[in-house]
Amino acid sequence: MEAVSRTAQWTAAARALETEREDRLFADPYARTVADTIGFELLDRYAGAGTVPFLAIRTTYLDRAIGRAVQEQGIRQVVFLAAGMDTRFHRLPWPDGVTVYELDRPALLDAKARMLADEPAPAGRTRRTVAVDLTQDWTGPLKEAGWHSEQPTLWVVEGLLFFLPEQAVRTLLSTVAQLGAPGSVLLGDVISRAALENPLSRPFLNSLEEDGNPWLFGTEEPEQLLAECGWQVREIRQPGEEGADFGRWPYPVPPRATTRVPRSFLFTCDLPDTHEGEAR
Ligand SMILES: C[S@@+](CC[C@H](N)C(=O)[O-])C[C@H]1O[C@@H](n2cnc3c(N)ncnc32)[C@H](O)[C@@H]1O
Repeated sequence: MEAVSRTAQWTAAARALETEREDRLFADPYARTVADTIGFELLDRYAGAGTVPFLAIRTTYLDRAIGRAVQEQGIRQVVFLAAGMDTRFHRLPWPDGVTVYELDRPALLDAKARMLADEPAPAGRTRRTVAVDLTQDWTGPLKEAGWHSEQPTLWVVEGLLFFLPEQAVRTLLSTVAQLGAPGSVLLGDVISRAALENPLSRPFLNSLEEDGNPWLFGTEEPEQLLAECGWQVREIRQPGEEGADFGRWPYPVPPRATTRVPRSFLFTCDLPDTHEGEAR
């Protein structure tokens, strides 16, 4: 498995810890299995201010937003870009008829399939794994896996964008905007540029670099980035803000006007109704 794919076991370990709390926000009964020992070792190695509470918040924010997209908006195609060790296909209460596409590197998908080999697929839903490099052309393999360009899609890009160079981030976000039918939704997270530059982040960033999975991209203006890539921003939330706290965030939230603050942003975007897909 590539070094960057190990980080999927890190985030799975954080989900296991949340699951094992009495006041858990969600239950991921598969998280400990897919995290394996390495996931918990990385949790210790990358320990830093707010990592574990942030991952609990991110998971909860996205779980709820995913629920709204499929239950209230009726979206039936869900694409996890860099699914990693995400087990939402198994653990969320999907409506009948949902097809979940999990895109990630081949070695990660193979390892995950082995670890979850004994888990039966829940009834009423379909999962397709698509082995790709998201910095190359991945749209052909997605279409070959059965994805329909004319139907709205829920795209989820969780825990990926900071690992990519800026141009790859822009290409990815623009590609999904061009591919998706009107009514599509994009959910995900991105960090601030200051998170890459603040001296307090340096030990954590050094560990990521030493392990071969450096953080490369951040922006102070996620609204602008998403709009430039063709998305209509419905909301941006920092952990600790209303709708992204869930009783987990232990720190104050500095106003956006305060500069040089390491931040994470959770986002929900829509595809404007006027959108005409170009790459279908
Ligand atoms: C931090 S994990 C996040 C996984 C999952 N979304 C989560 O939140 O737990 C980063 C994931 O990005 C995947 N990844 C990184 N670069 C990639 C690329 N170029 N193509 C496909 N997947 C990639 C890794 O394999 C890994 O699964």
